Amino acid sequence: MSSRKPLVAGNWKMHLTAAQGVSLVQNIDDFCRELKADVEVVVAPPFTAIHSASTVIDIDRMQLGLAAQNMHWEAEGAFTGEISPTMLTAARVGYVILGHSERREHFFETDEVINKKVKSAISHGISPILCCGESLDIRESGETLAFIEGQIRAGLEDVSAARATGIVIAYEPIWAIGTGKTATPKMAEEVCEHIRNILGDIFGTTIKANTRILYGGSVKAENAALFFAEKNIDGALVGGAALTAGAFNPIIAAAKT
Ligand code: PGA
Repeated sequence: MSSRKPLVAGNWKMHLTAAQGVSLVQNIDDFCRELKADVEVVVAPPFTAIHSASTVIDIDRMQLGLAAQNMHWEAEGAFTGEISPTMLTAARVGYVILGHSERREHFFETDEVINKKVKSAISHGISPILCCGESLDIRESGETLAFIEGQIRAGLEDVSAARATGIVIAYEPIWAIGTGKTATPKMAEEVCEHIRNILGDIFGTTIKANTRILYGGSVKAENAALFFAEKNIDGALVGGAALTAGAFNPIIAAAKT
């Protein structure tokens, strides 16, 4: 782990009601208060649970951050079923997960759409957590680094260095998401180092040095510390193990420097 503040983000996906979410947030916060660690902890509830989570975070003055799992790029309009960046900022949402492989695969999100969302999030003061990751086919054909480079460059197209502060990148190999298979820490580090070099090429040395890059894909209490020990991995995007305090809190503890 580097001097960058570690970030542990829990992606709840399509799980937990508003009431369950409030209870989980309270349990995570109790743990964080005891731990007193210099770790940024973020939860990404489904839209129906964001407002109640936001209210309890605010009222109880919790240090937890809030992320959305997706958003539309327009501020408002006739887009049935969509949620806008202004709705998110009104709910005190600071981050948005964009380009998750499940949205790319099941909802046909392209790099172009993801780029529109990235630029919109930034212009509304929401930090994108831009996800990238290769399929097993791509890994086995030895094209991982080139593929990731394509996703990063396309996702960040037309973003200036001045506006890139605060962007977070999550490297999540598709074959490791929800499968129980993780990349080895060395495999993850190789890709995260590559991503950092690309950021340097696009934005220069400051963004390269300061951007947090997370690993995601079957992260759990037993393996988290191994990833966090790598030089270019600054935390984790956690799915399955983010749904209970019992599974998530030890991952936060593992990020303590
Ligand atoms: P997982 O999901 O931890 O369940 O593998 C990670 C993610 O999709 O963000």
